[in-house]
Amino acid sequence: MSGHGAPIPMISRKSGPLSGTAAIPGDKSISHRALILGALSIGRTEVTGLLEGEDVLGTAAAMRAFGAEVTRHGQGHWTVQGVGTGGFAEPADVIDCGNAGTGVRLIMGAMATSPITATFTGDASLRKRPMGRITDPLALFGARAHGRSGGRLPLTLVGAADPVPVRYTLPVPSAQVKSAVLLAGLNAPGETVVIEHEPTRDHSERMLRGFGAVLEVTRENGQSVITLQGQPELKAQSVAVPRDPSSAAFPVCAALIVPGSDILVPGVSQNPTRNGLYTTLVEMGADIAFENPREEGGEPVADLRVRASALKGIEVPVERAASMIDEYPVLAAIAAFAEGKTVMRGVKELRVKESDRIDAMARGLEACGVTIEEEQDLLVVHGMGQDGVPGGGTCATHLDHRIAMAFMVMGLASQKPVSIDDGNPIATSFPIFEPMMQGLGATIERSAG
Ligand code: S3P
Repeated sequence: MSGHGAPIPMISRKSGPLSGTAAIPGDKSISHRALILGALSIGRTEVTGLLEGEDVLGTAAAMRAFGAEVTRHGQGHWTVQGVGTGGFAEPADVIDCGNAGTGVRLIMGAMATSPITATFTGDASLRKRPMGRITDPLALFGARAHGRSGGRLPLTLVGAADPVPVRYTLPVPSAQVKSAVLLAGLNAPGETVVIEHEPTRDHSERMLRGFGAVLEVTRENGQSVITLQGQPELKAQSVAVPRDPSSAAFPVCAALIVPGSDILVPGVSQNPTRNGLYTTLVEMGADIAFENPREEGGEPVADLRVRASALKGIEVPVERAASMIDEYPVLAAIAAFAEGKTVMRGVKELRVKESDRIDAMARGLEACGVTIEEEQDLLVVHGMGQDGVPGGGTCATHLDHRIAMAFMVMGLASQKPVSIDDGNPIATSFPIFEPMMQGLGATIERSAG
């Protein structure tokens, strides 16, 4: 898991109108949580629509290592025979989470209040990412972490033998941190409370309730106060994983910039903690119809009909950042095709994702002839209009799937093709990206390098 194969250089070229239907795979965030909560429940959890990307497969392997029985029955159809809250066994070997920040952080939370020890590692990207944001609150439960400098992986976590409940205010708007604390709180007696200033994705809260935990969310002084009753008996569930709105962003954005495009992307989440990109695109003048609003797998969804549009640059409201945090790379790519500048503020969390995404986008956009402004917490893209983006650059993806896909989208409408040094990481979240985009009419190919 921690190594990727030989680099896969890829190139995307100006394409004719995109058309057809894009059936997006399952949501990555929800897939990780379904496996973890299934493993912490009593009985057999059935999951359909599971994302079979490398990140989630890593979490499936980890749940096996902690003693759950995880079985694949067919495409996206998995079962998890859980061990119950506090029932994790000690893994016999190092847990390798590959590229998956969500995987490793949620799993650390889930084991932190059991009297077991586990060592975690990951690929070169994950080994650079901050883990102190997780191990600090887990220490309050009584867990001890021994990692490299800066709390980085490889890291050994000694779970608390006698955990105490915790009241924790999130220092950063992070659903991963929130979820790790809630998962740890499951095996602590009494009430664990997480306070968040800015709303972040709420899949853990929704799913914990679905598995039978008692969890209450109240608003106090403009903050969300999430209270979980410890030591519930979680009961196995059927989980239908909805499609991933973060993956849907790539064909949607591609269709907006390729002239004449008209595509349908069914079942895209409209969960307000995830749909910031779609609100932003509409403000930029995108022609997106939200058809057949309904509920799927406990999430509000709609079918998106997307037609090519003349976009205008906007200032993205800072308070929207958490609801579109994974979508800034592709937004930055298509902002180059807008009239006027697109200002993205309050985005410093992008610096600690799979790569420093502000830097990766800035360098790649510059290589493609686009003017940008960059600060620690800011990225501005100066739009060049529908036909005005030169392209022609080779962009470094730094083991980051979303950087890779963002630049492949950009090349579909730029004057010269856009290349990336390595498309390998795309398989972590969107293994069918290439054939799906090709099926819509996009010219995306593997190149000789
Ligand atoms: C995720 C939360 C976000 C997001 C990541 C998935 C999750 O990270 O970037 O891709 O599933 O909880 P942060 O919580 O660090 O913002």
